[in-house]
Amino acid sequence: PTIVAVVPAAGIGSRMQADRPKQYLKLGNKTVLEHTLSALATHPRIARVIVAVSRNDPYFDTLPLAHSDWLIRVEGGTERADSVFNALQYVDDDEWALVHDAARPCVTHMDIDSLLEVVQWPDVKGGILATPVRDTMKRAQAGSLPLHVAHTECREDLWHALTPQLFPASLLKNSLREALNANIRITDEASAIEWAGYRVALIDSNPANIKITRPADMPLAAFYLNQQDT
Ligand code: C5P
Repeated sequence: PTIVAVVPAAGIGSRMQADRPKQYLKLGNKTVLEHTLSALATHPRIARVIVAVSRNDPYFDTLPLAHSDWLIRVEGGTERADSVFNALQYVDDDEWALVHDAARPCVTHMDIDSLLEVVQWPDVKGGILATPVRDTMKRAQAGSLPLHVAHTECREDLWHALTPQLFPASLLKNSLREALNANIRITDEASAIEWAGYRVALIDSNPANIKITRPADMPLAAFYLNQQDT
């Protein structure tokens, strides 16, 4: 099938304490978003890229790749899932959507290749890149003071969900629409698919594909990008 990349890039990145959204911070001579979009657009299996950008975003239009012929810009929404849903209107029902966070600039073609395998797999409706949890996981007692542990989660079989996440476009559109209408909190695409009752494949992925969230993630991402060039 044809693969179309969908990039939610309409967040404000408040945890970064920066003067602009994190996707517009520079890593070397390019912004985070340019690294992300280029990694996707140069993959031979990706036909085009749909990027969701905030309505009043003053930065996007200044990027050299903003008017590329492989790129379609749509308006972002209130939540990440709304941004993804808007972008999916530009993906045909018989295509597959590969959704990838703007804030993950270190994704490699090898990561994408391993995810694309799931298109052929029986008994699953798409899949996600993920990495096994290494630390012991505690659940906090909500609202407690001092904040304390309610219990320890069993970390066996726990995974961090990364992106890209790959699904048949029609299934993802329908599942997201229904989940949003039902007011389910959707923080990744797979949650909507799972909620609709389908099986999602977990692909053990390269942990260098980090999501930039806090200031200390920037030098780490720069390090991983440098490693790709050498
Ligand atoms: O906030 P978080 O890091 O989870 O955001 C993940 C991705 O979703 C980021 O690339 C961000 O720009 C995007 N996003 C969006 N629309 C929103 C909120 C987040 O496109 N309303």
